[in-house]
Amino acid sequence: MATAADRTGTADAADIAAMRRAVALASRGLGSTSPNPVVGCVVLDASGHEVGAGWHERAGGPHAEVHALRQAGVLARGGTAYVTLEPCNHTGRTGPCAQALIEAGIARVVYAVGDPDPQATGGAATLRAAGVEVTAGVLEAEAEAGNAAWLTSVRLGRPYVLWKYAATLDGRVAAQDGTSRWISSPESRADVHRLRAEADAVVVGSGTARADDPHLAVRGIEGAVQPLRVVVDTGATAVRPGARVLDDAAPTLIAVAEDAAPDLPGTDVVRLPRAGGGLSVPALLAALHERGVRSVLLEGGPALAGSFVAAGAVDKVVGYLAPVLLGAGPAALAGAGITTLTDALRLEITETARTGPDLRITAVPATPKER
Ligand SMILES: NC(=O)c1ccc[n+]([C@@H]2O[C@H](COP(=O)([O-])OP(=O)(O)OC[C@H]3O[C@@H](n4cnc5c(N)ncnc54)[C@H](OP(=O)(O)O)[C@@H]3O)[C@@H](O)[C@H]2O)c1
Repeated sequence: MATAADRTGTADAADIAAMRRAVALASRGLGSTSPNPVVGCVVLDASGHEVGAGWHERAGGPHAEVHALRQAGVLARGGTAYVTLEPCNHTGRTGPCAQALIEAGIARVVYAVGDPDPQATGGAATLRAAGVEVTAGVLEAEAEAGNAAWLTSVRLGRPYVLWKYAATLDGRVAAQDGTSRWISSPESRADVHRLRAEADAVVVGSGTARADDPHLAVRGIEGAVQPLRVVVDTGATAVRPGARVLDDAAPTLIAVAEDAAPDLPGTDVVRLPRAGGGLSVPALLAALHERGVRSVLLEGGPALAGSFVAAGAVDKVVGYLAPVLLGAGPAALAGAGITTLTDALRLEITETARTGPDLRITAVPATPKER
């Protein structure tokens, strides 16, 4: 982990530029590295020219540092390596990166975020002990944001949860008669496929499964790793043989109560304790975490999203607001256990963007002092 003393190492404009590129490279691994983090690495030679770059592409594959060092070859000697996460110190499916950097003759290592994983931390100390100059904390906030899913899962012991919904400008996610296709634009729907590709699992409630028969797989993104499709179906009655979510486009898991009797031969089922409006959200997240899921895209509907909010298990919200009015129909969120304004979950908007005619708003729970 980075200590206050580490941060005294000075970073100049070249350091920041190289780290920014490493952060961008890291993001290419989103959706395909779990249970590992996304990591990017850039190697500059002794005169400051880029001679290697890489990112962690998939779990079990070489770490970012190894890709970048291979590309750099002998030119790494005396150079600087920029890594978005503290180089690992342990031998897992691949060797320790701290050692690989030392063996390549790297003179200086600059990293953004300390490794909170107790198994992997200690890379900075190993590097220093070998005489490598180490600077920590460069572009830390950007690198943290890029690795939010993995860092959250390590710190909280549960997957990171992004709740997304598509609503009319008056906040409705379906019409009074239950019709909901399509509230948002083709551009917004394409953007959702990107979110699915970046997630390890896509989760919906039984109400959505019944109303929409959703498919939940990624379409239109070449090379995307398909997420695990999860339906939270307490009584095992909403997902029936022939449901679109059961096709072979992606793996599927049906979460049911311990006493349910699912009739879905060949389908992966997990049994969970009941709580509140259905199944226990913490138990669901624990079961997914155990299966290596580090990030969840929660696609609703309102009742399930309400239970996640009530459980304090929403880390980011992405709302697609379509310039459409309905005047009746369900609101985006229900049953979150909030009855008075002082209990409202206050958010901080981190981004606004246009997706075709729609507005995409990204927000995260405000830190306690901002609420
Ligand atoms: N526009 C959008 O972004 C969007 C997205 C999704 C859905 N929708 C719309 O929303 C409507 C469906 O929403 P919904 O609220 O009725 O259904 P939902 O949230 O998809 O599912 C709710 C159901 O899930 C089950 N469940 C299991 N554990 C739960 C828990 N801990 N908390 C809450 N529910 C749990 C419960 O039924 P059992 O216990 O019986 O299993 C519950 O009734 C549809 O009209 C759909 O089109 C819109």
